[in-house]
Amino acid sequence: MQVSYHAHSIVKIKTGNHTILIDPFITGNGLTDLQVANEKPDAILLTHAHNDHVGDTIELASNSGAIVVAPVELASYLGSKGLNTVGMNLGGAKEFEFGTVKFTKAFHSSSYTSEEDGVIYGGMPAGILFKAEGKTIYHAGDTEVFGDMEIIGKMNDIDLAFVPIGDFFTMGPEDAAYAVGLLNPKTVVPIHYNTFPPIKQDPEHFKKLVEKAEVNVLQAGGVIDI
Ligand code: NI
Ligand code: MN
Repeated sequence: MQVSYHAHSIVKIKTGNHTILIDPFITGNGLTDLQVANEKPDAILLTHAHNDHVGDTIELASNSGAIVVAPVELASYLGSKGLNTVGMNLGGAKEFEFGTVKFTKAFHSSSYTSEEDGVIYGGMPAGILFKAEGKTIYHAGDTEVFGDMEIIGKMNDIDLAFVPIGDFFTMGPEDAAYAVGLLNPKTVVPIHYNTFPPIKQDPEHFKKLVEKAEVNVLQAGGVIDI
């Protein structure tokens, strides 16, 4: 399985047969290497409704016919825009053709701001556990550090974790390094930093703070094979 990072919170997963995009915020993301017209995902997974996570989902899913898996209120809104959606909620898992998705807790907020429709309530924000081909990936979404990360880490053998380090809206490097101790993944990739001035961070500082996991600082387009 090929997993790549594309700046902010965008993660692309290529399994043998499917391409999955998480939080595809491409337009307005000055650091990403992706272009909306080139992406043809089979599935889009969304952690929460904020515009820097939903991003180009409507256009991408309209172009490719991707199934959109999101917290239920957000899924319902995107469904009203004509997308093929599945709405889930915290603690629930579902096996799809492309892999198993489970939504986990995140301490954050969740609303979508639309020019047409105003501010839409997005339900609970989430993290995502994705399992396919015997591997487990955890995408923390936007969150502060919380003690139940230890439960997530104990119940799941996480091969690869993506955690925000930007501070201001989410965990900063110190809190994120503590979170890694609770989650106990084999490898961790820092995300959600340097996209905007308030979340400017040095990922090498985060790397120094993490004690047990391997920290892989990926540039946009960087790939990990797991
Ligand atoms: Ni957010
Ligand atoms: Mn965000």
